[in-house]
Amino acid sequence: MADPGNPNLEVPVFFEVETERLRLRTAYLSDAKGYAPMMTSPEVMQWTSAGVPITDVDVAEQWIKARVLGRDTFKLSVELKGSLDDSRQPEIIGMMGSDHWPEIGYIFHPGHFNKGYATEALRALVPAAFERMPSAEQGGYDFLLAGTIKGNTVSGRVLEKVGFTECETTLQDFENSFFGKCDSVWYRIARPGKTLEELGVLPGTSSAKDGELPVPPIQ
Ligand SMILES: CC(C)(COP(=O)(O)OP(=O)(O)OC[C@H]1O[C@@H](n2cnc3c(N)ncnc32)[C@H](O)[C@@H]1OP(=O)(O)O)[C@@H](O)C(=O)NCCC(=O)NCCS
Repeated sequence: MADPGNPNLEVPVFFEVETERLRLRTAYLSDAKGYAPMMTSPEVMQWTSAGVPITDVDVAEQWIKARVLGRDTFKLSVELKGSLDDSRQPEIIGMMGSDHWPEIGYIFHPGHFNKGYATEALRALVPAAFERMPSAEQGGYDFLLAGTIKGNTVSGRVLEKVGFTECETTLQDFENSFFGKCDSVWYRIARPGKTLEELGVLPGTSSAKDGELPVPPIQ
């Protein structure tokens, strides 16, 4: 099924995975209501490309569309198992995944911070993403990449807990309406069976191919 406004924006193939407390499943445009507490939160949105809360319904729809549609998109809504929202659906407490390999990103519901949910979800996402993302041999990548705005220590902590390594800081390459221009800190994790060292993407190794150079984070 395609988005009628843009036939190139296909609805991705359904995927789901469960953890002890969470269910991660393919994100849909219809999840917009569930994303509202995140998208209207200054605390969350300051760390994204928007920088500020998105309260306008049309802007919110565009923001979500750009992230969840696309044949190769691997964007998942994170549901809290056993919860029900006011529509009697499981509560969505996060959005996580990739809309362009090898980069992944995420936002979580501010009412559920510091309960380990992002870490638990990311631990499930990483192996699933490696399964979905073509390998370097297939024209893809042998690592996942996560870009954070410098100073986002919480996100860095989540990435490190899951096994990502801080690889580099790029200067003044990211801009949003909250921070203005700022630096990005890049984390990577290697495909099972590979190491970042042999892939040449650790600090001090500079053999990353042109196509593997980071672009500013867009989550
Ligand atoms: C980053 C984010 C996803 C984390 O979600 P979460 O579910 O609260 O994360 P977790 O509970 O799994 O882990 C948070 C960790 O950060 C730590 N932490 C919390 N506040 C901290 C602070 N001010 N400084 C350092 N570490 C902090 C917690 O103690 C925890 O680590 P621990 O398990 O070692 O104690 C969430 O804060 C968020 O959505 N932030 C806004 C959007 C964002 O930054 N997205 C990422 C863009 S790169």
